[in-house]
Amino acid sequence: ERSLLGLKELSRDEIASILDRAAHWDRQQEKMSPILNKHFVANMFFENSTRTRFSFEMAEKRLGAQVLNFAAAASSVEKGESIYDTVRTLESMGIDAGVIRLKPIGLLAELAKKVSVPLINAGDGNNEHPTQALLDLYTMKQHFGELKGLRVSIIGDILHSRVARSNLWALQKFGVDVKFCAPANMQAPELAKYAPYVSMEEALQADVVMMLRVQLERHGEGVLKSADTYRVQYGLTEERAAKLNAGTIIMHPAPINRNVEIDDAIVESPQSKIFTQMQNGVPIRMAVIERAMK
Ligand code: CP
Repeated sequence: ERSLLGLKELSRDEIASILDRAAHWDRQQEKMSPILNKHFVANMFFENSTRTRFSFEMAEKRLGAQVLNFAAAASSVEKGESIYDTVRTLESMGIDAGVIRLKPIGLLAELAKKVSVPLINAGDGNNEHPTQALLDLYTMKQHFGELKGLRVSIIGDILHSRVARSNLWALQKFGVDVKFCAPANMQAPELAKYAPYVSMEEALQADVVMMLRVQLERHGEGVLKSADTYRVQYGLTEERAAKLNAGTIIMHPAPINRNVEIDDAIVESPQSKIFTQMQNGVPIRMAVIERAMK
């Protein structure tokens, strides 16, 4: 039984083995492989989600697990119950694993020490989003064959992005050259020693251009002064996309602010892997759920 709290502390071999196992699930013709039909999983989302929440549920159901869905807005959290008490409550009822998304940074590690069921991080504040980065690595590996030597530029709201952090930690373990590009007030200074901040022009010279969502819900007052100015300075506009190398792929974790960080016409362009990323989320989460409960 194993938790997945983040990729910073996970070894390269462990990550590679999750990617391999996801490829196994991806190859299955049958939708159902009910190997976990005696197991109960709770999806506990204290922050909103579409992709992560539903691809975990899809993954759990394809493995035959019994799924409990918890949404904070419809729970006793609304009466003031804490995240810890909520997780302990579900644990006491007999769940075998918990998938959890929450806002406070550092709380997940504390929770994992206090409960005995494995916990899977579905995104904690701006700290980590390990299954998103795993599906991103999987998508890159699927397209390019191997990760080593790839040049990946992560562009946009780095400061508020758990996706950027989990990708950085994981990609560097595989010998990927990671660069960041962000406006000054969306840079995370503590990450500069791991990957350089470069200009937009330099960032677009890459094998993978990963655009990030401008995370308005995490911003303080005035971080994004004008969506139009942001688009002109840091957006993947049609004009910029036309100048990308033919072999470059475009990624975005979604949800997308169309015509802010990426132009509407580029979202489903031939170089875009955005919906492939979402598709790959299911086998990745099957591998992670299986790893937690076997
Ligand atoms: N990429 C991602 O985490 O999307 P959701 O917030 O919809 O889960």
